[in-house]
Amino acid sequence: MLAYSDAGRGQAVVLLHGFPLSKATWGAQVNHLAAQYRVIAPDLPGLGESPLLSGGTPSIARMAREVLALLDALGVQRAAVAGHSMGGYVALALQKEAPERVAGLGLICTQAGADTPEGREARFATARKVRQEGPPTLAEGMGPKLFAPGTATGSEVYEQVVRLIRRSTVNGIQRALYAMADREDHRARLSEIQVPTLVLTAAQDQLIPPERSALMAAAIPGATLITLPDAGHMPMLEAPDAVSSALAAWLTRVYG
Ligand code: MLT
Repeated sequence: MLAYSDAGRGQAVVLLHGFPLSKATWGAQVNHLAAQYRVIAPDLPGLGESPLLSGGTPSIARMAREVLALLDALGVQRAAVAGHSMGGYVALALQKEAPERVAGLGLICTQAGADTPEGREARFATARKVRQEGPPTLAEGMGPKLFAPGTATGSEVYEQVVRLIRRSTVNGIQRALYAMADREDHRARLSEIQVPTLVLTAAQDQLIPPERSALMAAAIPGATLITLPDAGHMPMLEAPDAVSSALAAWLTRVYG
């Protein structure tokens, strides 16, 4: 089963982290939301403290099924589900697999499309490089792109994320990359999403352009789009209070 944190009581909200990180990225939001909700934050397969998916081809859909199995184990039938970046891919896959279990959808610095052929090749090249040189090479390559330009290397948030990447395992990184490379394109079905949806993006996101998140928001009926001006790809850490407030407002829409 997935490793997870489970804080607070009440209606459930699930927070899914990005690549190749862990539930630790949600620390501020868990603290804020647990005053009012039951906040469940898993480590996705092969990352943080969670085991790798056993056997077979890794996929985002399989990650989503692992999250559903965790919710089964915790006795949670329905939850609001928010995902950051890769966690957003998992949230969309989960909503497709079991729409009746998703009370609301939160999509943070993420996108609904699949990889281009060049994007897939770049992931396979990254996987090879990480196998040869180890996770620190990913931390060096990815670190500066995760934050708004100008975020000082050596700052607290920067170091926290670099530490998380360095601590990831080669197998966990590689399998997550394969899963993302093969992920489904959800764009054609966005108009069918019927639950309160928050799309949160950041003007200085260097990995997933805010325009792409905005297009996704425009395709989901009634979705709220929030663009944070001063953050990059890691708004949970760069603008923690703004993200917590946006999630709290979304949960009020979901649960009243
Ligand atoms: C993430 O932050 O989860 C990843 O960078 C997303 C991606 O590579 O598509």
